Amino acid sequence: MLKPNTTRRHFLAGSASAGLLFAGARIFQTRALATPAPLVFEAKPGTANLLDGAENPTSIWGYGGVVPGPLIRVRRGGEVWVKLKNALSQPTTIHWHGIRIDNAMDGVANLTQQAVPPGETFEYRFTVPDAGTFWYHPHNLSWEQVARGLYGALIVEEDERVDVDQDIVMIADDWRLNGDGAIDEASFGSIGERAHAGRLGNVLTINGTPLGSFDVRSGERIRLRLINTCNSRILQLRFEDLEPTIIALDGQAISPRPLKHGLISLSPAQRADLLIDMTGEPGATQAITEVSVSRLVAATFNYANKERLERDRPDLVLPSNNIAPPRIKDARVVDLVMTGGAMGRVSEMMHKGKSYGMRELVQEHGLVWAFNGNAGMPEAPLFSAKRGETIGVRMVNDTQWPHAMHFHGHHFREAKEDAPWRDTLQVERNETRTVYFVADNPGKWMIHCHMLEHQAGGMATWFQVET
Ligand code: C2O
Ligand code: CU
Repeated sequence: MLKPNTTRRHFLAGSASAGLLFAGARIFQTRALATPAPLVFEAKPGTANLLDGAENPTSIWGYGGVVPGPLIRVRRGGEVWVKLKNALSQPTTIHWHGIRIDNAMDGVANLTQQAVPPGETFEYRFTVPDAGTFWYHPHNLSWEQVARGLYGALIVEEDERVDVDQDIVMIADDWRLNGDGAIDEASFGSIGERAHAGRLGNVLTINGTPLGSFDVRSGERIRLRLINTCNSRILQLRFEDLEPTIIALDGQAISPRPLKHGLISLSPAQRADLLIDMTGEPGATQAITEVSVSRLVAATFNYANKERLERDRPDLVLPSNNIAPPRIKDARVVDLVMTGGAMGRVSEMMHKGKSYGMRELVQEHGLVWAFNGNAGMPEAPLFSAKRGETIGVRMVNDTQWPHAMHFHGHHFREAKEDAPWRDTLQVERNETRTVYFVADNPGKWMIHCHMLEHQAGGMATWFQVET
């Protein structure tokens, strides 16, 4: 079937249920009816045309068998109700990345739930406290399941309509494909990749297509929601001939600032919302390129042959979500020291209460990284907080690699003035960053590197917030 706007076809799939919308980019209305039934997300094999000119489509795993999975749009304070059906050959879960969620719904295998076995189901039902750009993905064997295509966007709309002409989601992913277009399965679990920069793909896709394509009109103002779903690549996106303003990071509003040199860096799992005034001429094309390795055209803006739209361009500041401000002076500061990896100069690590030499640890458990000398999820939490206590985590990167440090259930910020709220922070090699948050969400929450090979290779821990 031929659809006029093929780049958005995945986003139109599925049925809408109350409070939840599968919306095209221009659709803003929200329904507020009683929810009759959950949306069914069946995690299953499917195919996708990831590679230009490939003879056959690529076999992937996706929610509903497509990549990205259905776009979820919900109003702030609304409810998401999804029934996961596992039609994969592996156990799986869904984690709702960046949502300050009820702990039981966080989807972390072996911490907040048992992974859902093949053939079984699990219902996720929760309210969304924050407006912003979020996403969802498995939290079991995620280094393989995310790489195969299991992910989608979760957009939470502000209480008041934001004055833009289009609201566009742009999910960027890198895939490791063989010459015939198939996913390179032989490299899954590679220890070399775990110990270095992780799995880096050789094919970039935007919203599951080889080239993103966004239809715009001269003079329009768009909101572009960028999501990096790469396993491990730090994306460098450049907006050629445009002057975007960043209005949100990791789903949380910031004081708007222009993008320096039109370039934005996003580590795995990070999001950014950009406000872009489309200044090109009618009929023109402008490119978004990815420049982490070479200059690759990721997407194009295609201007309609229509006269320029005249519209007001007021400064646009998104409303803030209600995140409790940390009392930094009173914070209890906990150290989290990252060690290991290639060139890491470490000779031993702890794992499950036992000390290992590196060679043994790699061979027996595939682990190469540690937090505070411990590789892999520890039995005991990194800390246990009283509800409402301000916690600081001093993250010391004593490795030769950058890491994308992600906290579950909470957003955090650094002490410096105007520091953004984040849920994922890139910490450079030999760098120390201290982040603060009010531990106000009871339960067991993970902290891990979101470079999924690093997580699998040992960079994982958790903390507890008492009820
Ligand atoms: Cu995006 Cu622990 O996850
Ligand atoms: Cu890492």
